[in-house]
Order: sequence, then C-alpha cells, then structure tokens
Amino acid sequence: MEVIIRDTAEDVGTLAADVFESHIKKGHTLGLATGSTPLALYNELIRRHRESGLSFAGCTAFLLDEYVGLPRTHEQSYYRFIRDNFTSKIDIDDDKVFSPDGLADNPTDAGIAYDSMINEAGGVDIQLLGIGTDGHIGFNEPGSSLTSRTRLKTLHPQTIADNARFFDGDESKVPHHVLTQGLGTISEARHLLLLATGEGKADAVAMTVEGPVAAVCPASVLQFHQHATVICDEAAASKLKLTKYYRYAYDNKPDWQEI
Ligand code: F6R
Repeated sequence: MEVIIRDTAEDVGTLAADVFESHIKKGHTLGLATGSTPLALYNELIRRHRESGLSFAGCTAFLLDEYVGLPRTHEQSYYRFIRDNFTSKIDIDDDKVFSPDGLADNPTDAGIAYDSMINEAGGVDIQLLGIGTDGHIGFNEPGSSLTSRTRLKTLHPQTIADNARFFDGDESKVPHHVLTQGLGTISEARHLLLLATGEGKADAVAMTVEGPVAAVCPASVLQFHQHATVICDEAAASKLKLTKYYRYAYDNKPDWQEI
C-alpha cells in the first residue's frame, strides 16, 4: 500500500485527479464514491473537462452504493448526488453510469445482478473510496465480511448521525438500509484509491494503514490489495506512526513508477 500525504484537502483532490486522468484518457471503467471527500477531485476533473477538453466519452462508471428506498431522482440518492455533482457536468453517457438498485423488490438479487454487471463490463479499473469515521468503505460497516459481495447492509447509528447533515440534520430522514458493493467486490478493482481529509478521519486512517487487517475496520482490507493507494491531508494523517517513511518513499519514487 502506498500512503501519500498532501498539505491540504484541495491538494488531495488535485493529485487524485492526476491519477484519474490517465484512466479517463484510456476510456477505463471508473468506480465512483459519494460523500464530501471526493468533491475536490470531481471539481478538478470537471475543470479539466471544461478547460482542457478531458473527455469521459469512452468511460463507464459504477457507483459504490445506494440508499434503499430512495428513487434515483431523490436529491439525496447517491445516483442523483453523483449526477448533480459530477456526471451531468462532464461528457459521460448517462447510460454508462450504473448504481445499485435501491428500489429493488429483492435486494439480494439486485446485489447479485450488480456484481454481474461489473463483471460483464470487464471489472473496475480504478475504484475511488472515501472512509467513514468507523473505518467503513462503501457502506461496509464494521463486522462486514472481508470477502462480501454487493448486498443489503444496515447502517451503523454513527453513520446515520454522520450523514444526517445531508438530510437537514434530521437523523430520522436518513435511510437505515443500503445496497453496497461488498469488500470482496471492491477488492476486485484493479486499483483502489482511498482519499481521506480532515482530523475526523485520523483514527480511521491509522487503523486502516497501520492496524491489523480485521473486519472491525473494513478499510483495512486494502492491506491485502496489490495496488492500493491512500492519499490523505496532514490532518487525516496526523495519527499515523510511519509518516516520515511514507514521505521519504514518495519523494524518492523512481520516475517510471506511477501511483
Ligand atoms: C460513499 C461511501 C462512503 C463514504 C464515507 C465518507 O459512496 O461509500 O463510504 O465514502 O462515508 O464520507 P465523506 O466523504 O462524506 O466523509
């Protein structure tokens, strides 16, 4: 796992955009995450699309997760979030942006179908991940099987509290269930790129990178991945022990070795 520490959240977004840009130019399959962390990255990619003609026309995208019970048109559905904040502002074809079906009568079947769609598309080339304060990725809460597939999960009360800010601060409006790519599904992506910003993520980042691999910290599954990159700002890196080495390794990266 490579850990890269940048000064600010904006710098995290810019570096992540550099990583994404090379995939976008190859028309790769992108794994997208919602939440506030990726917004700096999405805004930078939108800027490059508008100002430098970066084209997403050859790309396909799969979202990580979706609330159960919210239609795609609901302003807090993850499909709508990605559309409003990213995909409607670039030239990706709407028909090539996929999300788990939060309105499915049978969520189990919907999860299996979603994994099949990802496989049929040839798998995800780069999967963007944010991290929850409890170490979740996607909506795989602590205790999630490290080999889990896309399926229904019940949100932890802490996640409901964290996400209430998107629902007028009202926890009772936050759906309690979600469909999320499993940790096994996520791990099949060829490159995992986890972004973390702000002091509130410092414990989760430390557990993920320097703690044991354990279901109690779902993001720690990244330690098993052959190509996982964590980019965090100073605040999110503040509880890591080996920061000196991570900086040294990044500063001395051979020119040919990409992120
Ligand atoms: C979103 C997702 C979640 C978020 C995480 C962090 O698709 O899967 O795991 O990445 O909850 O959210 P923010 O970035 O809002 O702190």
